Amino acid sequence: MKLVFASRNEGKLAEVRQCLVGSGWQVIDPASIGLTLDVQEDGKTMAENAARKARAAVRTTGVLALADDSGLEVDALGGDPGVHSARYCGQGATDIDRYRAILHRMVEVPEEKRTARFRCVMCLAEPDGGEHFFEGVCEGRIAHHARGSSGFGYDPIFVPEGFSMTFAELGLDTKNRISHRARALHQVIEFLRTYAQPHGR
Ligand code: IMP
Repeated sequence: MKLVFASRNEGKLAEVRQCLVGSGWQVIDPASIGLTLDVQEDGKTMAENAARKARAAVRTTGVLALADDSGLEVDALGGDPGVHSARYCGQGATDIDRYRAILHRMVEVPEEKRTARFRCVMCLAEPDGGEHFFEGVCEGRIAHHARGSSGFGYDPIFVPEGFSMTFAELGLDTKNRISHRARALHQVIEFLRTYAQPHGR
């Protein structure tokens, strides 16, 4: 059974692949089938953006499509960057520019007020038009300095609850046990279990 993961983000693709190992589902990389996915991600919510990506992929491929939209919500910054996480600091900015901007805005913020969370909303779009949404959240704190080299995006500045290391220090195996994306994916996997049987796919 195959599904296309509608994202050009290789970090996300690697996480989704690892979480779906043993599930019976093969994850198709859009690049491997020439799918370019030119989708405007300027929706007001993560669900809207995830749905746009999943719809575009199912329309073009005719195969069950999964998309995720995710972001970091920092309490001391009023929930920023949130749904704007990928575009924070404008076009041309790098992951390093983005997390440095957050650290800079938080220089004066004390430990107890550095709470934050990663949120991931996934949309599964079926060839017949059905759409299903799943959400995962991972609570944590913003570190005072970037640490670690694993992962992508804001991983070097995010310390998940119950740990003292950042996602980038903890590595993929630990991240995939507790992350927002892993939590959303577990719900997707549960759904796919029931989905596969009646449809016989
Ligand atoms: P989008 O979901 O592709 O729009 O991107 C959301 C942005 O949020 C990414 O480009 C990353 O900067 C950030 N992000 C989402 N998930 C993670 C994660 O697991 N670790 C670090 N950064 C993330």
